[in-house]
Amino acid sequence: MANTAKQTNTIQPASQPATITIHPFLLEHLDAVMSIEPLTFGPNHWSRQIFINELNNDAGVYFVAIDSNSMQVFGYSGFWIIGEEAHITTLAVHPDYQKQYIGERLLVNNILQARKLGAHWLTLEVRASNDPAQKLYSKYGFKSLGVLRRYYQDNLENALILWSDNIESLHFNELLEERISALNKRTGE
Ligand SMILES: CC(C)(COP(=O)(O)OP(=O)(O)OC[C@H]1O[C@@H](n2cnc3c(N)ncnc32)[C@H](O)[C@@H]1OP(=O)(O)O)[C@@H](O)C(=O)NCCC(=O)NCCS
Repeated sequence: MANTAKQTNTIQPASQPATITIHPFLLEHLDAVMSIEPLTFGPNHWSRQIFINELNNDAGVYFVAIDSNSMQVFGYSGFWIIGEEAHITTLAVHPDYQKQYIGERLLVNNILQARKLGAHWLTLEVRASNDPAQKLYSKYGFKSLGVLRRYYQDNLENALILWSDNIESLHFNELLEERISALNKRTGE
C-alpha cells in the first residue's frame, strides 16, 4: 500500500498543511497510535494490548489518518460491526492537528465503511463533558438517546449514548452528501 511506509513515534511540526489520506490500521501504525492515545484520552487510554486485541477482532474495523507530506499518523478511528449496528469504539486526532477536519474525515470514513459492511445505524458512548466530539457527531445528525450514569470509572462521569439516523435513509444521505461536499471544499479536495 502506498502510504503505509515507515511511521515515526514523534509527531514533527508540519512544514506544509496536512494532506490526509485514510488507510486500514495495521500493526505497523501501532507505535504512532500509541504516541497519540495518551495525549487524547489521558490516563485511562487504551493500552497497546487493547489495540492488538482490536486489530485481531473479527468484528473490529480500524483506520488511520496519514499525512501524505510527512507520512505520519495524525489520527485513528474504528468500530465494531454487530449485526446492523456499527459501534464506534474510538476516534482521536493528535492535539497538534485537531480542528483541521481530520476527525470529521475519519467519521465520514466510518460511516461509508459501516454502510459497505451492511450497518444501518452507528452508535457510540461519549463523555457528557466532551463538547468537541458531541458537536462533531451532531453535525452528522447523531442524537443522544440514552445516558449511562457514572459510566466512566476515572471521574464517574455520565456517558451519553449517541445514535445516528438510519444511514440508508434518504434524509441521512442528503445530509451526508452535503457534509462531504463542504468537507471536500474545506480540505481542498
Ligand atoms: C473529537 C476529535 C476527534 C475531533 O477531531 P478534530 O479533527 O479536531 O475535529 P474536526 O476538525 O474534524 O472538526 C469537525 C467538527 O467537529 C466539531 N468540533 C471539533 N472540535 C471542536 C471543538 N474543539 N469545539 C467545538 N466543536 C468542535 C465542529 O462541529 C467541527 O466542525 P465545524 O468547525 O465546521 O463546526 C478531537 O477533538 C479529539 O481527538 N478529541 C480527543 C479524543 C476524543 O474525545 N474522541 C472522541 C471520543 S467519543
